Amino acid sequence: MSEPWWKKSVVYQVYPQSFKDSNNDGVGDIRGIIEKLPYIKRLGADVIWLNPIYESPNVDNGYDISDYRAIQKRYGTMEDFEELLGKAHELGIRIIMDLVVNHTSDQHKWFKESCKAEKNKYRDYYIWKDGKNGKEPNNWGSSFGGSTWEYKDSVGKYYLHLFAKEQPDLNWENEEVRNEVYDVMRFWLDKGIDGFRMDVINLISKRQEFKDGTEIRDNSFASYYEGASNGPRVHEFLHEMNEKVLSKYNLITVGETPNTTTEDAIKYSAASREELNMVFQFEHMHVDYDENRKWNIMRPKLSDLKKVLSKWQERLAEEGWNSLYWNNHDQARVVSRFGDDGKYRIESAKMLGTLLHMMQGTPYVYQGEELAMTNVHFDSIEDYKDIEILNRYHELVDLKGKDPSYALSVIHAKGRDNARTPMQWDNSENAGFSHSEPWIKVNPNYVDINAQKQIDDENSVFNYYRKLIQLRKDYDIITSGRYELILKDDSDIFAYLRKGENETLLTICNFTNRETIFRLPENIKYNSYELLIGNYENNNGIDADIKLKPYEARVYLLK
Ligand code: NOJ
Repeated sequence: MSEPWWKKSVVYQVYPQSFKDSNNDGVGDIRGIIEKLPYIKRLGADVIWLNPIYESPNVDNGYDISDYRAIQKRYGTMEDFEELLGKAHELGIRIIMDLVVNHTSDQHKWFKESCKAEKNKYRDYYIWKDGKNGKEPNNWGSSFGGSTWEYKDSVGKYYLHLFAKEQPDLNWENEEVRNEVYDVMRFWLDKGIDGFRMDVINLISKRQEFKDGTEIRDNSFASYYEGASNGPRVHEFLHEMNEKVLSKYNLITVGETPNTTTEDAIKYSAASREELNMVFQFEHMHVDYDENRKWNIMRPKLSDLKKVLSKWQERLAEEGWNSLYWNNHDQARVVSRFGDDGKYRIESAKMLGTLLHMMQGTPYVYQGEELAMTNVHFDSIEDYKDIEILNRYHELVDLKGKDPSYALSVIHAKGRDNARTPMQWDNSENAGFSHSEPWIKVNPNYVDINAQKQIDDENSVFNYYRKLIQLRKDYDIITSGRYELILKDDSDIFAYLRKGENETLLTICNFTNRETIFRLPENIKYNSYELLIGNYENNNGIDADIKLKPYEARVYLLK
């Protein structure tokens, strides 16, 4: 049987609000994406994942949907969307949409009905519970701070919201809710879209006991994960979704699944189980977490990154499929986080790209990653827009009495707005994103870091990513080779093999800003070698020790 097409695809993630503003209202839009399709084509990506563009009050930048079948006006019209889809398809680019169905907006008509004093069928579309001893039904803390429960006078009960209180959780136990979701999916699939990225899809089946959580997070709240992640019916629900909807189309599906092990991921993504194609795991995004979870300024240990990424490569080799990512709209920019966004910005960005793109799985490139865009350091909390950042700041400064400069320093390092500043197209005003003031400030470094400067420069990060993407198309071994970590205990170098029947791919990455020596283990035999890509100019071969330059990366094909 031939392999599914998405095993050789590279996905480019577009955050519409910050991508390209065509009508100069300061917000990116669909016509802006249409304008930039040739750019994505040139990079070589063959799938676009669009963050939510549906009707929404934007409490959480579109992850609070009030109408699943309508395009939010500031992004354009349904005709614009259809044009985008048609033009993308003409270029051989597929489009996947964000499916956000763990929760809706509190402005969705289902929720408004659900809250009515007089009971109707929508009451059971959401999760309502009585309080306990005059307090919330349990001690779960929401992702954005505070309790996951909000009381409604009209109902006389609390409703569950794992995220903001404006994002009430849907009740997936209710078959009618599931059927509504499947209808929404068919609506978009019948327009011709090519799949879905499913927001926090592993949280849809709650443990119905709604027991107190024991895992204290951020020293301040008990996580909801024990009660809500990878719950008892999640696989049943996804299998049903697959049977009723997904299996009828030729799609790519990726579930966002926080708090998920490799064993869980196999269940979601093994072809035989007929659920999803792959999931976004979070373990490698947690290598720089401490007791304050993400809110710190810690550098990860290379040994932890090796351990986690190797585990995912090895465990999902036979069954299931990996998605490969460094960045998305929720993560700090990888070059700032795991690389060096100063002196070695270009070298370290290329090295990180190499490490990820030579692995097994489907790579995702988040807008601007291909330019090595960096984190932003706004001086004032006023410049930040993200609900998570604003709540966190309030919690640290107002409730815990921490120094505002400390709060800003962790926001600089980890806040989600690092990823959400406007795409840097050129060095004109507002980075060529818009002629009006953007909804969020541009990163002032756009003067140096922008697409225009990189597209025609063959040594740019853009063209390096382009080459990495092309290599996946040209060499099957990148899709199918068996992963093997080498130099496991080396604290500076991350190196691994991808073994095929008659050839081996060798990837070598120096994770430091120093020169370091790479010595090929003696048991690796070969007759010839070819350097497929590297981020410095040289081809000294691998017969002798290699003196790797700061953040140097090389990929050899050994035969
Ligand atoms: C994950 C999304 O990626 C994030 O941006 C959002 O805030 C939460 N899910 C809630 O929908």
